[in-house]
Amino acid sequence: MNRTITFPHDFVWGAATSAYQIEGAWDEDGKGESIWDRFCHTPGNVKDGQTGDTACDHFHRWREDVQLIKELGLQAYRFSIAWPRILPQGRGQVNQAGLDFYSRLVDDLLEAGVQPFVTLYHWDLPQGLQDEGGWPARGTAEAFVEYADAVSRRLGDRVKHWITQNEPAVVALQGYLTGEHAPGIQELNQALAASHHVLLSHGWAVPVLRRNSPGAQVGITLDVNVHAPYADSRADLEASRLMDGLYSRWYLDPLFGRGYPADVVAYAIAQGGLPPEGPTFVQEGDLEAIAVPTDFLGLNYYRRDKHQAADVSGPPHELEEVDLPKDAEAGYTEMGWEIYPQGLYEILCRLHFEYRPPRIYVTENGASYAAGPDEDGRVPDQARLDYLREHFAAARRAMDVGVPLGGYFVWSLLDNFEWAHGYHQRFGIVWVDFETQERTPKDSAYWYSQVIAHHGFEVGSE
Ligand code: FCB
Repeated sequence: MNRTITFPHDFVWGAATSAYQIEGAWDEDGKGESIWDRFCHTPGNVKDGQTGDTACDHFHRWREDVQLIKELGLQAYRFSIAWPRILPQGRGQVNQAGLDFYSRLVDDLLEAGVQPFVTLYHWDLPQGLQDEGGWPARGTAEAFVEYADAVSRRLGDRVKHWITQNEPAVVALQGYLTGEHAPGIQELNQALAASHHVLLSHGWAVPVLRRNSPGAQVGITLDVNVHAPYADSRADLEASRLMDGLYSRWYLDPLFGRGYPADVVAYAIAQGGLPPEGPTFVQEGDLEAIAVPTDFLGLNYYRRDKHQAADVSGPPHELEEVDLPKDAEAGYTEMGWEIYPQGLYEILCRLHFEYRPPRIYVTENGASYAAGPDEDGRVPDQARLDYLREHFAAARRAMDVGVPLGGYFVWSLLDNFEWAHGYHQRFGIVWVDFETQERTPKDSAYWYSQVIAHHGFEVGSE
């Protein structure tokens, strides 16, 4: 017998992208250089030397992409704005052509009946600001407020959902500690200062967005995955607790008024990443600013990560270098990420019962699989469809126990530039042929369309 899983009619279904991953046109129409332009143009940083110079060419094909969003019946579209298109140097001179581009995109989406969810920062910092120290410098948070102001003055009448920052943990840790992402720095002290200024930039921008965009909902998106011990040993448990601290509590706690977690501060002091007196970059009033009330928390959830003591006993910049043997019982996507739908339920419950945000949106969830067009031009990506179905079901279970989940964005609308992996990892529900730029919805996209149209889906009984 089949069972139907249903969602409320006002539940918002969408898909997400980010500017650098899809736009291309990296130096067109007055855009300044970003840290990702610089990082990709420097040999050795990205697989096969690939870059986002062209990506999905969305900058020229956005009308076609809006049409696609409409045809699939998506109700909302989460995209990010490229800061260096708006302020080529990061602050100062505004590039009107950049604002015009996003203004047209927003108009087209609204005309198609699609709600725009706008992310202000999805990792493409203007290189000019990095030259002045990047996120480890407090001035970058000040520049972010100027940027948020310029964007929301122009779009604030039409955009009703704002996300200040995407995954501050990845900005800080991948960008300034492991160096896997732009700007490729490997210093714990820089990473921690960066994390603080990213959070501060959020706190300072929220009132500006509220002022320029009356009635809008404002929030921030965090990546919170499950961090579990590899073995049932005390050392592995402690390692996973610390990784959860570094990746999740370091952000959640200050955002919800609890300040920085003591165990992570102690680790950082022991590693020489903070002076003995602790985080000296925190100035008076900062923690109050960061804890500004918001309307929602965005959650990006992908996987369960298992940790061993060795993960955290080495130099901090090697935090992610230990590759554990895969669990024969578990499934993995082509990123090597463990598929763990129950974790979405666990994290949603944790966020709700421990931190009580007024509302939560899953702002990203999805899977990388290479499946491409068959002889008939169809893209049978059953594995992605299964992944999504299991995660949707987990989200529904969380709603059943009271989690105020308002919507869900699949990552990603299009196959795109997956950061250090280049084009080798495909997360799209729509296939992109990067030679011809042709778009082909995959089976998962057609299935998702039906889920949206019917406010739910059927699952076979076990
Ligand atoms: C998230 C990022 C997004 C994409 C997915 C796979 O961490 O926000 O840009 O890379 O992972």
